[in-house]
Parts: sequence; C-alpha cells; structure tokens
Amino acid sequence: MRIVLVGPPGAGKGTQAAFLAKNLSIPHISTGDLFRANISRQTELGKLAKSYMDAGNLVPDEVTIAMAKDRMEQSDARGGFLLDGFPRNVSQAEALDEMLKAETMKLDAVLDLEVPEDEVVKRIAGRRVCRNDSSHVFHVSYKPAKQEGVCDICGGELYQRDDDSEETVRKRLEVYHTQTEPIIDYYKAQGLVVTISALGKVEEVTGRAMEALKQKD
Ligand code: AP5
Ligand code: ZN
Repeated sequence: MRIVLVGPPGAGKGTQAAFLAKNLSIPHISTGDLFRANISRQTELGKLAKSYMDAGNLVPDEVTIAMAKDRMEQSDARGGFLLDGFPRNVSQAEALDEMLKAETMKLDAVLDLEVPEDEVVKRIAGRRVCRNDSSHVFHVSYKPAKQEGVCDICGGELYQRDDDSEETVRKRLEVYHTQTEPIIDYYKAQGLVVTISALGKVEEVTGRAMEALKQKD
C-alpha cells in the first residue's frame, strides 16, 4: 500500500508509523527523521534544514521534495511506503501526485490522526528521542525507558529535541493549521482520507489504524 500519515506535531505519527510499516511490510519514510539524520551527519542539507526546524517552520519545498523523491525511488519503496511528515503543504501534495503519476502509481489512503491540542502538548513535553536514531522515541510518563536517559533499543543517550521547546511547539502547531491541514481537504476531494482518534494506548490506536486502512486496501 501507499499511505500518507497526517496529524499535528506530537500526534504519534512516528510511533504509529513504526508499527504500521512493520505490519504492512512497507518502509516508513519520515522526512523529519531524514532531516535529523542529515543534521547529525552535519551535511549541507542538515545545516540548511536545522535553521528552519529550530524555528518551527517548514524546510523549503525544493529541498524537501527532492529528498523525499530520492528516498521514494529506492528499491525498498517500489512496492509501497508509509509517508510520515510528507507532504506537509498543498504544493508538496501536488508534487507527490506528479511523481506517482509519472510512475503510473497512486496513493491508497491518507490516514489522519486526530488528537486534542492539550494532549499534543503533553506528548511533546515528555518526549525523549535517541541520539543515535530519532525513530527511537520514548516518553517520560507514557513510555519511559527502562533506564532513565538510555535508549532501550540501542543504548544511545536520550535527549529532548531542539524543536520541542514550548515556543517552537506553538509555532509548529500554527504551521500545521495554516499549511498542513489544507492537504486534508485536498485528499478528501480524491476520496482518500480516513480519520481516526489517536487518543488511548499506542496499541489501541494501531488497531484502529489497521481497521481504517482495511477499508482502503
Ligand atoms: P517531524 O519530525 O515530522 O515532526 P512533527 O510532524 O512535528 O511530528 P513529531 O515528530 O513532533 O510528532 P509525531 O506525530 O511523530 O509524534 P511521536 O510519535 O513522536 O518534523 C520536524 C520538522 O522537520 C518540521 O517542523 C519541519 O521543520 C521539518 N519537516 C519535516 N517534514 C517536512 C516537510 N515535508 N516539509 C517541510 N519541512 C518538513 O509521539 C510524540 C510523543 O507522544 C512521544 O513521546 C511518544 O512516545 C508519545 N506517544 C505517542 N503515541 C502515544 C499514545 N497513544 N499515548 C501516549 N503517548 C503517546
Ligand atoms: Zn536508540
């Protein structure tokens, strides 16, 4: 399947994507994780992206679209993928449509995770991620690491993301409402959107998501 995951910052997109991608045997492609990997390798792309991310703004479309395209063209993504954090505005959605059309492919579903803003703020405030791999995600109360500050998966150091400060989170939420939410209507017009509540335990949300995706398979 070819799936796009949307939802506000802290909705649990990365958390759900890890389980869904495994269940559906498709790669999890997160533009946020790709940017963070570039930042830790100190590439030119990472240096450029960091200034936008730290301010809570979107990284410019040209570089984001090129990076996402490059990743989607890798062999493991030919049979399907789960996109997390891309597209994030209508021009990225249009670019994705063009890319898929050129390959006579299409999306199967857009899974929209709904979470109230106060819950999003709690999830982000307690989030801790691994220095070695930003897809290793914990939460101080909802998903504590066995040993405080140490990643259960690889033993790396857990830290708070630079863009998880209160001020930047407020900006990211504003950017979500103004720039990203319009893609939900864009995809509704194509009949692709399934909306689920992302409240409750992680495995309950995964169950809801799998049920919703079955309708689109
Ligand atoms: P990105 O990394 O995509 O961040 P985001 O969309 O803001 O989403 P988050 O990673 O904050 O949250 P999430 O929904 O994945 O939640 P998580 O699973 O971690 O993007 C960062 C930046 O990169 C952007 O601001 C932008 O600058 C740039 N960027 C990325 N893509 C771009 C694009 N396409 N165009 C331009 N710029 C782009 O969960 C959050 C916490 O809650 C965790 O601690 C988790 O353990 C916990 N949790 C999860 N589920 C539950 C649950 N059910 N119950 C309790 N706790 C839970
Ligand atoms: Zn780790």
